[in-house]
Amino acid sequence: MKPMRKMLAAATLAVALTTGMTVALNPAAAAGTTLKAAAAEKGRYFGAAVATGKLSTGAYTTILNREFNSVVAENEMKWASNEPQQGQFNHSGGDRLVSHAQANGMSVRGHTLLWHAQQPGWAQGMSGSALRNAAINHVTQVATHYRGKIHSWDVVNEAFADGGSGARRDSNLQRTGNDWIEAAFRAARAADPGAKLCYNDYNTDGINAKSTGIYNMVRDFKSRGVPIDCVGFQSHLGTSLAGDYQANLQRFADLGVDVQITELDVMTGGNQASIFGAVTRACLAVSRCTGITTWGVRDCDSWRGSDNALLFDCNGNKKAAYTAVLDALNGGSTPPTTPPPGSGVDTSAWYVLINRNSGKALDVYASATSDGARISQWSRNNGVNQQWQFVDSGSGYYRVKSRNSSKVLDVSGFSTADGGAIVQWSDLNGTNQQFRLANSADGYVRLINRNSNKAVEVQGASTADGGNVVQYADWGGNNQQWQLVRIG
Ligand code: XIL
Repeated sequence: MKPMRKMLAAATLAVALTTGMTVALNPAAAAGTTLKAAAAEKGRYFGAAVATGKLSTGAYTTILNREFNSVVAENEMKWASNEPQQGQFNHSGGDRLVSHAQANGMSVRGHTLLWHAQQPGWAQGMSGSALRNAAINHVTQVATHYRGKIHSWDVVNEAFADGGSGARRDSNLQRTGNDWIEAAFRAARAADPGAKLCYNDYNTDGINAKSTGIYNMVRDFKSRGVPIDCVGFQSHLGTSLAGDYQANLQRFADLGVDVQITELDVMTGGNQASIFGAVTRACLAVSRCTGITTWGVRDCDSWRGSDNALLFDCNGNKKAAYTAVLDALNGGSTPPTTPPPGSGVDTSAWYVLINRNSGKALDVYASATSDGARISQWSRNNGVNQQWQFVDSGSGYYRVKSRNSSKVLDVSGFSTADGGAIVQWSDLNGTNQQFRLANSADGYVRLINRNSNKAVEVQGASTADGGNVVQYADWGGNNQQWQLVRIG
């Protein structure tokens, strides 16, 4: 299958060359050789739950850093861990994980602000308005502490009952009143407006009474403007997979929320690899399924003990389940990415622009919304400050508009000099705000400014987060080439 695709791509390229077409082709992206690379090719993240104590174990961290570009704390961001005494917060474990993630270009899922389990003793003993106030304060304090550092928060975990009722689970939190979940989401939004806010649960792997109860809650939240952005499907699986797993993800996506596979692990046995593969394909088939997290790295790291439920064995070897996931990521339907060069861009779409040299995304530094704010590169996290829309200026030129600020890329002060700063500015449709797309190989483009005729580049071919973006004479360098990955 793969050699065939390569041959076809090569043949198409040869035809294009012999017929004298001037546009470069966009050959199928190369197969990723790690989970994170293969997932990134499809616009998804691939994550693992991490016990931060293991970060000092080389064999563990080697796999984590090689294969995963998202992490979640297995326990350290839970209530019992980070507020062991009321009002006394201990973020050391979570902070350690965030540092590791930032140093290694990984995004972070936050797990979890409120849950009936793993509560500190003091909260377990509370009820009524005292508990409600303590819970909302916990949400506010923790989300504020990590503000700007968390890609998605599991604001509430496991609040629905198992079985056929479709109702809420009884818990001390539930007994404070049915509105405790929406109160938590509102508090989380206020504390960290940039994080995606998720509801997360298990036994929701098909269309059943429990998932339908959650579905109805999400639909209600969306209709009333309660801030919710995503639903997490833990997917702690046995030896079979619900036939409507994908359909279930899709019906949530159709409500206007992202979906994520948040705690994937699968019972060992004959079906393990195929179930891992099927879950991966289901996610890829749902455009709003933005990523997959496995609940641990190696079998021996798993909370499921002898189930051997993960992708790596205890010696760190890749299992058949790993290969099934990697193959699914590489073979899954390719979401729209770079438009074929020469065909123009979709001006209704939102793109992340990935630099060819660094692999980092064009980013409004620190999510600034002011005129003159600098443009940098940053590890891709698909944040709104990394999303750009092409606004047609005619004659093949476009403004490049930030989703976060609605400002456009701008060569500061109409500079025509090498090294002239690229900033964001209110959209005046000036020629220093207009760029044409020049084709490089493999679907990459350079952005050439109309006023200066210089290319947008990562200064000094930096590969660091925060690397400066400037204009420079167009010489076709990798640091001047950008991949337009359509994400919305
Ligand atoms: C588990 C951890 O893996 C264990 O280390 C801990 O002892 C108990 O919690 N659903 C969740 C996760 O949302 O937080 C749980 O993690 C597994 C089930």
